[in-house]
Amino acid sequence: MLVEVVDNYETLSDRAAEVVIQQIREKPDSTLGFATGGTPKGLYNRLIEAHEESGLDFSKLTTFNLDEYVGLPPEHEQSYARYMWSNLFNNVNVTESQVHIPHGMAEDVDSHCQWYERRIEEAGGIDLQILGIGANGHIAFNEPGSSLGSRTRIKTLASKTVKDNARYFEDQDMVPEYAITMGVGTIMEADEVLLLASGERKAEAMKKTLEGHITAMTPASMVQMHRFAHIVIDEEAASELDYQHHHGIVEPKDE
Ligand code: PGA
Repeated sequence: MLVEVVDNYETLSDRAAEVVIQQIREKPDSTLGFATGGTPKGLYNRLIEAHEESGLDFSKLTTFNLDEYVGLPPEHEQSYARYMWSNLFNNVNVTESQVHIPHGMAEDVDSHCQWYERRIEEAGGIDLQILGIGANGHIAFNEPGSSLGSRTRIKTLASKTVKDNARYFEDQDMVPEYAITMGVGTIMEADEVLLLASGERKAEAMKKTLEGHITAMTPASMVQMHRFAHIVIDEEAASELDYQHHHGIVEPKDE
């Protein structure tokens, strides 16, 4: 694992942007996996800047998002489709045909999930998957207890996740309880994963992810099995780590 601990959220966003921009420049027809949530917003702002200021070209990419709430149509203010279009896609040269986001209103959820998996395969797999992490150690909506070999499917959200998300909904009755999510197995097939975490709220999850056992109770811990996991976290998210991690080397903190 390549673990980089940076000063703060701004530096984290700069570093993540460098990685994604390099991927797009080196392979303009890359297949990118995008994540939602608060963490990648700084990264997306920097991608928009790179598009506006130096013409970073998004037109040949194929994109897949990790997850979507069941029961929210794409135009709903809190849907992840809406998030992606307003935080990134509307501000760069991406058209709808390039974009894949699980459909929260799919009538036949199981066949929709199978179709999603097939589309990833047809696109040649994901070159670079951006990931956040939940305070409970989830990746995408693979909550603790998720099979580490799981594929895209419908999941019940953990009550902690429902609670964490509730702040985004004015009407608490609308807070979703189910989501369609890529599986841990799906995510681990990406050629590279870029996991981002910022703030003290993520410190315990990062300790379990990087220094704990690989366990379904911390689905993010599967990054330990990945052939190229790139982890960028800030000092606060790294504050519970017992070891120093720098550029692939792990040493006790006091040496
Ligand atoms: P956050 O969410 O970036 O809003 O903290 C990450 C996640 O829950 O996966």
